[in-house]
Amino acid sequence: MKYKKIKNLVELVIQPSIEFIKKSRKRTNTPFKEIEEILNVFFPKTKYHESSKGYWKHVFVIHSGKKKLVLKMGRRGKDIWKDFTTYTQLRKYLGSAKANRYFAKIYWRSGLFMLQKYGKKVRVPIATLQKLKEFGKEHGLKDIREANIMKFDNQFKIVDAERR
Ligand SMILES: Nc1ncnc2c1ncn2[C@@H]1O[C@H](COP(=O)(O)OP(=O)(O)O)[C@@H](O)[C@H]1O
Ligand SMILES: [Mg+2]
Repeated sequence: MKYKKIKNLVELVIQPSIEFIKKSRKRTNTPFKEIEEILNVFFPKTKYHESSKGYWKHVFVIHSGKKKLVLKMGRRGKDIWKDFTTYTQLRKYLGSAKANRYFAKIYWRSGLFMLQKYGKKVRVPIATLQKLKEFGKEHGLKDIREANIMKFDNQFKIVDAERR
């Protein structure tokens, strides 16, 4: 598995600190801000991905050596496993090579977190959007729109989709 060290850190330090912060502060909302601060200790330059649209997951851009990665955090486990299931199912019946051509690689998932390859936010050409929408239709993926498509090298890929 790639980025096992980051997974260990998430499981041993980040994930447990969520409950700890909630309890010590007698609050019930998910402490995204504090998690960002903790992430910053281990991954300087961590950025919280602000997006204008209302959405489920919080997306942190972290740096591991020269690589940029996105660590996604949900409020509930299901915010994360839904995506991960979509991705693993696609890989199962399309094969990894084809699935990875359309869907951005997810390295692992654990609890409220998952680690995904970082893509650039650029305008998606209409024809490409159309192609990905068709792919989505064919494979029962919801929510194929520009906000969920990033560019990886020369390839546009879906970063977020749920199955019907
Ligand atoms: N792999 C990625 N690389 C770069 N930016 C991403 C990536 N995944 C998500 N983002 C950014 O974060 C936003 C929210 O992430 P997303 O996975 O779509 O969560 P949600 O389920 O909350 O919509 C996206 O619209 C996009 O701007
Ligand atoms: Mg989304």
